[in-house]
Amino acid sequence: MVDIVPLSSYPSYISLLPSVQTCNITNLPENYFLKYYLYHALSWPQLSFVAVVRPKHNGLKNDYPKVVGYVLAKMEEEPTDGVAHGHITSISVMRTHRRLGIAERLMRMSQRAMAESHRAEYVSLHVRVSNNAALRLYRDTLGFEVEKIESKYYADGEDAYAMKMDLRPLWIKDEDDDEDDKGGKKTGKAKKQAGGEGDDAHPDEGDEAGDLGKKEGEKEEKEKEKMFKVKVGRGLGVGDLVERNESVR
Ligand SMILES: CC(C)(COP(=O)(O)OP(=O)(O)OC[C@H]1O[C@@H](n2cnc3c(N)ncnc32)[C@H](O)[C@@H]1OP(=O)(O)O)[C@@H](O)C(=O)NCCC(=O)NCCS
Repeated sequence: MVDIVPLSSYPSYISLLPSVQTCNITNLPENYFLKYYLYHALSWPQLSFVAVVRPKHNGLKNDYPKVVGYVLAKMEEEPTDGVAHGHITSISVMRTHRRLGIAERLMRMSQRAMAESHRAEYVSLHVRVSNNAALRLYRDTLGFEVEKIESKYYADGEDAYAMKMDLRPLWIKDEDDDEDDKGGKKTGKAKKQAGGEGDDAHPDEGDEAGDLGKKEGEKEEKEKEKMFKVKVGRGLGVGDLVERNESVR
C-alpha cells in the first residue's frame, strides 16, 4: 500500500531525504543539493509530501520505508507580482508506481496546504514543453493554465510552459471573509493575515507583558529595538543550492 504523508511529519524525516533525492535523480534532469530538500522541509513543513511504501515489519531497526514519489513545494519568497503564492519546485513518481494517481494526490495535498496554511492566491510551476505526461496531469487533471512560454528555461535549451492555478477556492472561509465580501471592514483574523492592527488586539503570549513603571520615551525606544531587518531567502544564497554543471563557465 502506498501512503502519502507530509515530508516533515514522518518520524526522522531527515533520514528520508536521501531517498527523496534519489527519486528525483532517477526521474528528472533537474537536481538539487540535499540541503535544498532540507531547506524546503524546514521552511515550509506543510507543503512537501512523500509517497512511501512501508516495509513489512520484520523487527529490524533500520527498516526505512521506500520512497516511490514526492512533491517538493514552497512559498515564493520574493514574488515579483507581490502576490503570496506557492511554487512546485519538483515532483516525480518512480516508474514502478506510475498511473496510480499518486502524482495527482501529491499535487492536490500540496495545493490544499498552500491555500489553507499560507493563504496562497495561486500556485505556479514550470514544465518542459515536451513533457506530455506532466502537462496532461497539470492542465487536464488538475486545471492549471499556461501563463506563458519561457524560452530556453532549461539548462539544455528547452522551453518551459510557465503554468499557474488559482487556489482561492481552497481558502478556509471565516466570518471575517464574509464581512469583507459584504464590503465590511477587516477585523480580527483577517487583519492579522493582512499584517494589520488585528495583531495588537491579541498580543503574542510570548511577549513581555505590561509596561508598568516605564516612561513614555523608554517604551518608544523598546519598540524601535524590536524592529530590525533580517536577510531571508536569496539573500542567504539559497539560489546557489540548485545543482549546476560547474565545469561550464
Ligand atoms: C508526470 C508524473 C509525475 C505523473 O505521475 P503519476 O503518478 O503517474 O500520475 P497520475 O497517476 O497521478 O496521473 C494523473 C493524470 O495525469 C495524466 N498522465 C500521467 N501520466 C501520463 C502519461 N504517461 N501520459 C499521458 N497522461 C498522463 C493522466 O491524465 C492521468 O490521469 P489518468 O491516469 O486517469 O489518465 C510521472 O510521469 C513522472 O514522475 N514523470 C517524470 C518526472 C516528471 O516529468 N516530473 C514533472 C516535472 S515538471
